[in-house]
Amino acid sequence: MEVVPLAHALGVEIRGVDIAGVPSDAEIDEIRTAWHGAHVIVFRDVEWTPDQHLAFSKRFRDLDDHAATPHDRFDGYPELLEVTNIPKNGHPSQTRNAGRNWHSDYSYTNRPAAASMLYCTQKPPVGGDTMFCNMARAYDDLSEKMKGIVADLQSVYDFSLVSGIGKRDPKKIAELLKINPPIAHPCVREHDESGTKALYVSERTSHFEGMTRAESAPLINFLCAHATRPENVYRHRWRIGDLVCWDNRTTMHLALGDFDESQPRHMLRTTLRGELSGYVVPPAV
Ligand code: SIN
Repeated sequence: MEVVPLAHALGVEIRGVDIAGVPSDAEIDEIRTAWHGAHVIVFRDVEWTPDQHLAFSKRFRDLDDHAATPHDRFDGYPELLEVTNIPKNGHPSQTRNAGRNWHSDYSYTNRPAAASMLYCTQKPPVGGDTMFCNMARAYDDLSEKMKGIVADLQSVYDFSLVSGIGKRDPKKIAELLKINPPIAHPCVREHDESGTKALYVSERTSHFEGMTRAESAPLINFLCAHATRPENVYRHRWRIGDLVCWDNRTTMHLALGDFDESQPRHMLRTTLRGELSGYVVPPAV
């Protein structure tokens, strides 16, 4: 197996392993180690079926059945999420503008995703890239004083801050807001496998628990700007057949809308289930 760095801050490409086949336990361990070190791993030229995608993902962890976003499930596969701009049953896809602000998957649920594995089946000729930032490095780079401040904070995640939901079906969004009320999680997330500490705050954080929105905003803005500095980012330019896997405990990501929407962009994602965490709180004041 060959592990090739893609950027300074995070991201490696893994070559020389047939992930569509049945990788050995030793290969899975090697992939896991590379993943914990680089936070984002990329496999190229993958040709597989939805069942192979599920089988590979399950080697790492139990999978989420996407009950938090039931409309986005891939038909017949609750453990696969369809991220697509291709209309469905004559209606615009609910995920056509998904992921347009910096976030970590399922942060607005009581099972924030451990990791995600996104497989590209169709892409526009240019654009439609995805950017990732390293939240462990962002945490490490804070002053000791600021580390002390964030250690005491709970980030409140609010589904209504998911970018672009205003353009989706209002009935479905109302349902999703009901399923996913505002929820507080520690602002410093400790990785349940590697023990790595990372910032856990995003553009979907409305406030810090016990503080007002106005009091929280400057610190949320600072932490997000600090985490997404260009030198802390890897930008993935998709090719058909790419499988990009990111660790939601140590990264945020952003799907860029810089492409011709008349061109299909179609991805399938498994979500590796996280630990139960968080508690429901009243909306921000
Ligand atoms: C997501 O946020 O899971 C979607 C990322 C993408 O479409 O690039």
